Order: sequence, then C-alpha cells, then structure tokens
Amino acid sequence: MSGGTIRVLIVDDVAESRDNVEKLLRFEPDITVVGKAARGREGIDLAVALHPDIVLMDLNMPDMDGIAATMEITARVPTTAVIMMSVQNEPDVLRRAMLAGAREFLAKPFSLDELIMAVRHVSRLAPRPAPVVGPAVVPGIPNGRADEASHARIISVVSNKGGVGRTTLATNLAVAIRRATQKQVVLVDAALPFGDVGVMMNVADGKTLADIVPQARSLDRELMEDILVTHGTGVRLLLAPLTPQEAETVTAEHLRAVLALLSKMADYIVVDTRPGFDDTMLSILDASDRILLVLTMEMTAIKDTRQFLEIAELLGYPADKLWLVLNRQTALSGIPAQDIAENLNRELTAKIPDEPAVVLRSVNEGAPLVESHPDHRVAVEINRLAASLVADDLVEGLPSGAPQPGRSSGLVGRLRTAFRHA
Ligand SMILES: Nc1ncnc2c1ncn2[C@@H]1O[C@H](COP(=O)(O)OP(=O)(O)O)[C@@H](O)[C@H]1O
Ligand SMILES: [Mg+2]
Repeated sequence: MSGGTIRVLIVDDVAESRDNVEKLLRFEPDITVVGKAARGREGIDLAVALHPDIVLMDLNMPDMDGIAATMEITARVPTTAVIMMSVQNEPDVLRRAMLAGAREFLAKPFSLDELIMAVRHVSRLAPRPAPVVGPAVVPGIPNGRADEASHARIISVVSNKGGVGRTTLATNLAVAIRRATQKQVVLVDAALPFGDVGVMMNVADGKTLADIVPQARSLDRELMEDILVTHGTGVRLLLAPLTPQEAETVTAEHLRAVLALLSKMADYIVVDTRPGFDDTMLSILDASDRILLVLTMEMTAIKDTRQFLEIAELLGYPADKLWLVLNRQTALSGIPAQDIAENLNRELTAKIPDEPAVVLRSVNEGAPLVESHPDHRVAVEINRLAASLVADDLVEGLPSGAPQPGRSSGLVGRLRTAFRHA
C-alpha cells in the first residue's frame, strides 16, 4: 500500500458493474478508486501507468479475459495485487485465476462487506513473486514422478488464521505417526517466511528449504538426504529458511518438486503451512492426500474455516480430503463444539483440549508433547488423530514385536484402541 489510502483500479467491460463497485467503495475513507477500464488491454495500460495497490478484475471481457490481463499485470507491476471478480466460480476458473497471480477471488454478486474485506485483506499482503504460468514444473527442475513410484501419504496442516495451532499439531503429529508406525516420516516446514518447526522441535541449526533453491535443477535423493535434519524421534525435518529474504526465493515449483521427491523417499509427509491461498499453498493442497483444517472456538476462526471449506469445494477437492480439527477445545468459549460442527455442516474429526500451560511449556522446551508427555490428554487426542491418519498401517503393517527403545510401551496398543473407538 502506498501512502495512506488503498488505491484501486476497476477493470470491467460492463459500465454498470464498474459504477456499482465504484459507488460501493466511495464511502470508505481508506480506499480511493484511481481509475476505471472497460477492456483488459486498457486495464493493463492503466495499471502500468497508475501502479494501483489493487486491481478489481472482471473475468470475462470481450478483448482479452481477466486471467490473461492478470498475468500481464502481476508480471509487469509486481506491487499491484489483483482481485478477480466473476459469476463463474468453477474450480478450474478459480485455479487459473490464482495461478495467473490473482490474490483473491470474489464471486459475483458480492456484498459491500465482502468487497471491502477482500480489498483491505489483499492490500495488507506483501507483493507476490512473479506469476506461475504454464506447466506445473519449471523446465529443468525434475518433478521426479516418472522414474520411481511415489508412495508417501501427504498430510498438510492448514488454517487461514494464524495462531490456531498448526505448528503444534504438525510437529506432534509427525512424531506421533513416527512412534506409531516406525515408518519414514518427513515434516516439511512450509510456513514461509516464518517457519517455527525448528524452534518447536528444538533444532537450532541445519540446512533448510533455501538450500534447495540454488540446486533445484539437480534435486535428487542424495541432495535431499543432505538437507533433511534428523530429529531425536527419527522424524526427518525439512526446515524453513532462516530469513524472509531466503524464504522469498522458494517458489511453488520448488515445493512441488520437493514434495514429489520426498514422496518417493518417505512413507508419511506432514506439511506445516501458512495462511492464504497463493500458488505455493495451492501446490501443497493439491499434492495433499489429507488436509487437516485447524480451527479454534473463536468466531473468526470458524468464519475463516467456512471460507476455506467453500474454496476447497470450488477447487474440486472431495469432501473427505479435508478433516476438521478443533484445537483448544474449552467449555469457556461459549460456543459448544457441537454447534461449531453444525454451523460448518461438517464433523469434527478431532478435538484437542485447551491446555495453555502444558502446551506453552512444551513449545518453549522444544519437546513435542506426544513424546515428552504421551499420557497427557492433549497427546492422547493427537495420538488418536495420528491413528486415524495411518489407520491402514496400524491395522496391517504394525510390528507385533517388542516396543522400540525410547518408545513408551503400549503406545501402539493405545493407538489401536483409540482408533477403534474413534
Ligand atoms: N491445545 C492447545 N492448548 C493450549 N494452547 C495451545 C494449544 N495448541 C496450541 N496452543 C498455543 O497456541 C499458540 C499458537 O500455536 P501454533 O502451533 O504456533 O499456531 P500456528 O502454527 O497455527 O500459528 C502456541 O503458543 C501454543 O502455545
Ligand atoms: Mg505456525
């Protein structure tokens, strides 16, 4: 955002729509409409001349569609963010808009609130890197699918709201899965630019995702083995870059390539993420077999979850790809869990109790609870969730022999029981 107000350019071929949007925005003291265009080409020219903070872009226009115009604007004016507006909200359209570089998608007709919220939200985001166009993989970065079979199950932990417990869950789940299955588990910290996995797992230094960037074209097993950091629990970590500058170099293509390669090296991949629906997040969500959508009992988190579910539907994800995980469950919230489930019209797959003191201590000690306090009720619920996630491996593939050293005896049994009761 330059200066005090958010400068908006409206691009829409229908005069009435342009004027309506302008009228809606007129009374917002922090928003100024700096230009209007009736054609895609004119929109690009105005964006280049005016450098608006936001372009409200119609999808269907006679000369060029809004997606092509968005691609050109995001490439030529990287400080401008595009919000796509369309009556068409099929998954494919949404996906193409996002890949073209749009930051947000408004389904027409939208309310004043939705419009204002989208403009304010997008104006707060940092400028994004150049758009992702064409095939999913940049030439030269191996996508690694062809040669060896990939078999890992990818579980991403997501939320559009920060601070709901994604990292707490991702770290504990990775350890829980490792303990329950003794299989190869990799935890990827994709919560760029501020990944917390290293801190929560008490790993002070090591290579990171940023070390992949200069060698992305020759990314292979050996290089990956060298970058992964092995935690005491046996979980291997792909840590987030240490600085925002380094994090900026990691693109959606890098993450796609990383996940494709790791899929061949591991049995389970747990991915910690950041809020938002940019191309990096889309590449993670697309690659995921299971998306754990984390929410707390706050109205804001519930609202964000509903929006996330709607977008997931637009993206064409099958309903059971997403599992809702209620974190910090407490009777003090004033909203019973049952009401949240009903409001979202979805089952809550897991309910993790609110235990501020014990969770805080485990975060500060860098010791995941499922390892340090496996009997604590937070750990029990996370273990139960882990058991559901790895159900096949627990039922068929679990070792029947003696417990591994360092592993609390009876854990597998408890997980099995928990799973049966879940
Ligand atoms: N079940 C829980 N009970 C109490 N506090 C929790 C719980 N889960 C997470 N927290 C706290 O919430 C804060 C945010 O958690 P974090 O995992 O960093 O969220 P996110 O990754 O979504 O931003 C942490 O400081 C942690 O102490
Ligand atoms: Mg986090």
